[in-house]
Amino acid sequence: MCGIVGYIGNKKATPVLINGLLSLEYRGYDSAGVAVLNPSNDNYILNIIKDKGRVKNLEANPELENLIGNVGIAHTRWATHGMPSKGNAHPHLDNSGKFAVVHNGIIENYLELKNKLQDNGYKLYSETDTEVIPNLIHMNYNGDILEAVSKTMKELKGSYAIEVISPLFPDKIVIAKKDSPLVVGIGKDENFIASDIPAVLAHTNNFYFMDEEEIAVVEKDKIKFYNLDLQEVHKDIKNIEWDAESSEKNGFEDYMLKEIYEQPQAIRETIGSRLSVDKQVELGLDEIDFSKFNKIYIVACGTAMHAGIAAKYALERFCKISTEVDMASEFRYRNPLVDEHTLCIFISQSGETADTIAALKLAKSAGATTISVVNVIGSSITRLSDYTIYTHAGPEIAVASTKAYTCQVTLLNILAINIAESLGYSSNELNQFKVDLLELPDKVKIALESAQEVKSFADKTCTQQDLYFIGRGLDYAVSMEGSLKLKEISYIHSEAYAAGELKHGPIALIENGVTVIGVATNPVTTEKTLSNLEEAITRGANVLVVTNQDIRNDKIGMLLHIPETHPYLSPIISVVPLQLFAYYIAKAKKLDVDKPRNLAKSVTVE
Ligand code: AGP
Repeated sequence: MCGIVGYIGNKKATPVLINGLLSLEYRGYDSAGVAVLNPSNDNYILNIIKDKGRVKNLEANPELENLIGNVGIAHTRWATHGMPSKGNAHPHLDNSGKFAVVHNGIIENYLELKNKLQDNGYKLYSETDTEVIPNLIHMNYNGDILEAVSKTMKELKGSYAIEVISPLFPDKIVIAKKDSPLVVGIGKDENFIASDIPAVLAHTNNFYFMDEEEIAVVEKDKIKFYNLDLQEVHKDIKNIEWDAESSEKNGFEDYMLKEIYEQPQAIRETIGSRLSVDKQVELGLDEIDFSKFNKIYIVACGTAMHAGIAAKYALERFCKISTEVDMASEFRYRNPLVDEHTLCIFISQSGETADTIAALKLAKSAGATTISVVNVIGSSITRLSDYTIYTHAGPEIAVASTKAYTCQVTLLNILAINIAESLGYSSNELNQFKVDLLELPDKVKIALESAQEVKSFADKTCTQQDLYFIGRGLDYAVSMEGSLKLKEISYIHSEAYAAGELKHGPIALIENGVTVIGVATNPVTTEKTLSNLEEAITRGANVLVVTNQDIRNDKIGMLLHIPETHPYLSPIISVVPLQLFAYYIAKAKKLDVDKPRNLAKSVTVE
């Protein structure tokens, strides 16, 4: 969480930094700040401007005009230690006022370090864990900043991506990373630093990815990387194909709506050339001997975990391997039975989720083979996993994940076919499944046509306090995702239940006027789900049903028809009206859809 940008070159740093922060606000938006080295006679002066609130507050500050220097660092914050306030906003300075630091992550031993600094006469003014860093750098500085940063890193426990600037080395930005992402964007006579690629995509497509416990010294025409012992490290440049335009709104009112509408194309890109009807699936996993696995764990968080639940069915049926889905934050603390006969699949849009990274490390240390399904190229999870298969959803900016989910479910189903084929399984059903997968982009496009109907239902429902989503099997899996989406952006309490469970307790909550959304796409379970919906209607519920079946029941408030597909693929289509529903409810409530309260796009703290 939190966003970092840095610039060093011949341009004025401030506009580059502010634009970078604006595109990074999905990472946190409690407060924001910049530090720029302003030339003054033969020297440089460190100028800092920061404030509580969003980047646009900072942008409106007239004093920004005075920041004319060519070297600067900037930060947008998602508060962990200390409330959102000007004092807690980054950049933070050391007591001498010579070192400015921005930091993403959490310093777990900051209290211990604070005591040490105080014992050495330092004063700490903020409530943050970050403020110890510039002061430690000052304490460790003997004229060599690399040495000071590496000494400081050895004292820090926890996670960090940091940038340091100082008038003592005005032609350098020193950066360091552990368990929090940081990339260096390469320009001509200028270089960029960012926690996430989209922040600087407008300037470059060439990047270096920082590895764990690495330090870099970034100058306008030179970048050098070092390990903790200050040995130089060689790195390869990675070219990122995303263009800056794909990180912009392109006429849509919100990123979330744009990303919902991008789904047909994103799914098409994710399928790419990996799948065709008459050939075996190609995912670059040929060297894996899938016959050695007797267990699959799918591990992820939030929406990515819901994608895992939606994929479990195909993995079990087509590959005949028992598959369990775990929340990453629970997996690592429950002593899962993992060994060399276990395949662990990790799913993450950002590739930076701390809980998922911790679970991945645990699985690797227990001898499992690890495959990750990730959207952000070069992110931490891709570098830690044995194998990575990328979703090609393009940059997802809205905090509420939409296109990443549909691409994840698509790719996981392709992976299921890949494993099944490697194990020698083939069937007419599997062949038809490939055809159904290839038809998904067009069918998702048709599902998007429900937008106006969904909006009219959302407009009537937006004053509700509680809402329920029900379905069976994969319709339940997608109900969980619909419910999460609604909670995240509309702040309406909602629950998802397996339809058959309603009568075992939750039905006590149904009273006159309560809205229940039913998902009924599986011909085997649709009648049963309809009976459960009838039970809710009898108790006064107002019901919306998303279906691809021929349902005739005039007690249902609204029926939304979506295209039919293989039941295992139906979440990719049925989630679309649920995403739109959450979106239009939040709009009706005049909420900030892209930046919901208390949330951030990448959750890089445990
Ligand atoms: C999705 O709408 C959420 N913002 C959240 O649940 C997210 O899916 C989760 O934090 C996992 O993120 P990741 O895919 O980047 O790992």
